[in-house]
Amino acid sequence: MRFLFTPLLCGWLLFYSPVQAESISPEKHGCSSCHRFSVEDSLELPKAPDLFYAGNKFQQPWLIKFLQAPRVVRKAGVSTDPEFLNKKSAPAQPHPALPQKDALAMADYLMSLTLPDLSKDKVDTVPLTKGNKVRVKILFERNYGCIACHEGINLAGQARGGISGPSLANAGNRLTADWVFNWLKAPEKFIARGRMPFFNLDDESAIKLTKYIMSLKIGDSK
Ligand code: HEC
Ligand code: HEC
Repeated sequence: MRFLFTPLLCGWLLFYSPVQAESISPEKHGCSSCHRFSVEDSLELPKAPDLFYAGNKFQQPWLIKFLQAPRVVRKAGVSTDPEFLNKKSAPAQPHPALPQKDALAMADYLMSLTLPDLSKDKVDTVPLTKGNKVRVKILFERNYGCIACHEGINLAGQARGGISGPSLANAGNRLTADWVFNWLKAPEKFIARGRMPFFNLDDESAIKLTKYIMSLKIGDSK
């Protein structure tokens, strides 16, 4: 009976999921009062990160988790918020959480929001060798000083670093390599007046830094 029931149940879920997705909208859930979901949305200085390229930026499993149990990524607040770095404003109120069914449908919707004309497949999936990882860690921490504004992971496996930029301590579970590469090469495609210094990286350095960032994973804690 159970064996018969499973395919029936799966059929039911497949049949019903598009209906669920239709009932999800950022307006209905109050998300669009803080986030922009389209380049045309006019929140002049958004208090929350832009989501109109969420499909390029995020790994879907991370989104599904975040939407149900949001974690702080930007301990000093969001860089486009006029209150950025004002201790009184950060961390902001807890992020709204969605029940599982809505989180799944919302994650599907977010993954459909993409920008055209981004470079693709510049970074292959071969991880850095141990020696290269040590060398790029030095670039990240000392040469470019990324660690002054971003959390990475120290030798003891703990998040460590500055907090004025988003934490990268779990970037390997959160972001896609393609998006990180595009961000490092041309942040102006995503944010008009960003606060991160522009490093004018050549492709090779951007690829190395992307691979290093993608190696940062800190389990469920961020
Ligand atoms: C009151 C304002 C507010 C509302 C309403 C809100 N958010 Fe957010 N959201 C934020 C802020 C602020 C952050 C950044 C939190 C951080 O980095 O720690 C954020 C982060 C996110 C992120 C991660 C983005 C990133 O780049 O790290 C996603 C995805 C997200 N929100 C989706 C949603 C969805 C979907 C809704 C509606 C159900 C929603 N938010 C409602 C303020 C809001
Ligand atoms: C002076 C502070 C500062 C330095 C140094 C810095 N960043 Fe950033 N970074 C930021 C801020 C702030 C943001 C958020 C977007 C914005 O305002 O531009 C950001 C965004 C990012 C993001 C996107 C994260 C996300 O979740 O949206 C990545 C990836 C990143 N930085 C990597 C780096 C790397 C790699 C370096 C070193 C080569 C670096 N950053 C140096 C401040 C900094």
